[in-house]
Amino acid sequence: MPSLFTPLTVKDVTLRNRIAVSPMCQYSADFGLINDWHQVHLAGLARGGAALVIAEATAVAPEGRITPGCAGLWNDAQGEAWSRAVAAIKAAGAVPGIQIAHAGRKASANRPWEGDDHIAADDPRGWETIAPSAIAMGGGLSKLPRAMSLADIERVKADFVATAQRALAAGFEWLELHFAHGYLAQSFFSTWSNKRNDGYGGDFAGRSRFALETLAAVRAVWPEHLPLSARLGVTEFDGSDDLEEGIELVRRMKANGLDVIDVSVGFSTPTANVPWGPAFMAPIADRVRREAGLTTTTSWFISEPAQADALIAEGKVDFVSLGRPLLENPHWPYRAARELGVERAAWTLPTPYAHWLDRYRTA
Ligand SMILES: Cc1cc2nc3c(=O)[nH]c(=O)nc-3n(C[C@H](O)[C@H](O)[C@H](O)COP(=O)(O)O)c2cc1C
Repeated sequence: MPSLFTPLTVKDVTLRNRIAVSPMCQYSADFGLINDWHQVHLAGLARGGAALVIAEATAVAPEGRITPGCAGLWNDAQGEAWSRAVAAIKAAGAVPGIQIAHAGRKASANRPWEGDDHIAADDPRGWETIAPSAIAMGGGLSKLPRAMSLADIERVKADFVATAQRALAAGFEWLELHFAHGYLAQSFFSTWSNKRNDGYGGDFAGRSRFALETLAAVRAVWPEHLPLSARLGVTEFDGSDDLEEGIELVRRMKANGLDVIDVSVGFSTPTANVPWGPAFMAPIADRVRREAGLTTTTSWFISEPAQADALIAEGKVDFVSLGRPLLENPHWPYRAARELGVERAAWTLPTPYAHWLDRYRTA
């Protein structure tokens, strides 16, 4: 059996293969409430054969949405809609996961296809943004956030906890904390965005504190038998030597109860020099996996089955997380199974599909 199709057990959850759907915002919700599009989108990805479907960055509070169309999970109606998505994902044999998030200073933005910049200050669709310090992201994201008070910090941590509880009630079996991509937790960690001189800024310990405390508070309500993962930008690619700190934060998150790390990019500055290319994050994920010692995944331009299989066989990651390849072809796992010579379609597809395809292939 190719490594890509070997099951993986994390806590009490077993993935049927090593392919996860990386969270992908649909920018199509209505004040955080997901709709029929999200149901079709998520069910289709699960049906396609991935083992784990992590639903998009879902805001823990209204001001934590990236755009007016971003999903949320701060009220009962949203929880009910998510529980239907959970049922659909499970019906297709995948594990339902959700990424919970607060966009910090990158919030109040236009949808990508409407500009991908901040909503204009005089536009009533926008809202006040919050961040560790009153420093704008830059580039198209020029809105100045309000520096968070200690009360703001306590409230947002409590929002993460409440959303984790709602995710559990909705039936999710895998919870991911979005601590990456320049959003709130990443912006506490990054020296680009955190210039605080209280206990939540300054040295490594201060800049790590928001992420570590949020993680510990969520772990206290997220059951021990279910996986808790985090996505972290372990490096900014800004020419500095920040990877050591990124790896040390992963180690400390592990000590606070983290089960899985999704290794990603910081995206805290528009001037970063990201070395885009096929599987460019894999060597960094490999290092994080060896030095922090926990179940590891990464994404970014992993598009070929043999490449994905090799990353797992070589021990660089435990599973791969795919985004755009699965938008292009939700049945990518089935294609991968065929290319890698897996005999039975049933390894990747629900029985009502696999039965016919197994017969078809041996006919
Ligand atoms: C439409 C779209 C929406 C995305 N939304 C999120 C998100 O909600 N959370 C997140 O962590 N990453 C998000 N990403 C990044 C993806 O999860 C993934 O890391 C990225 O697309 C690279 O993987 P790929 O090369 O397989 O597409 C998004 C990417 C796309 C294309």
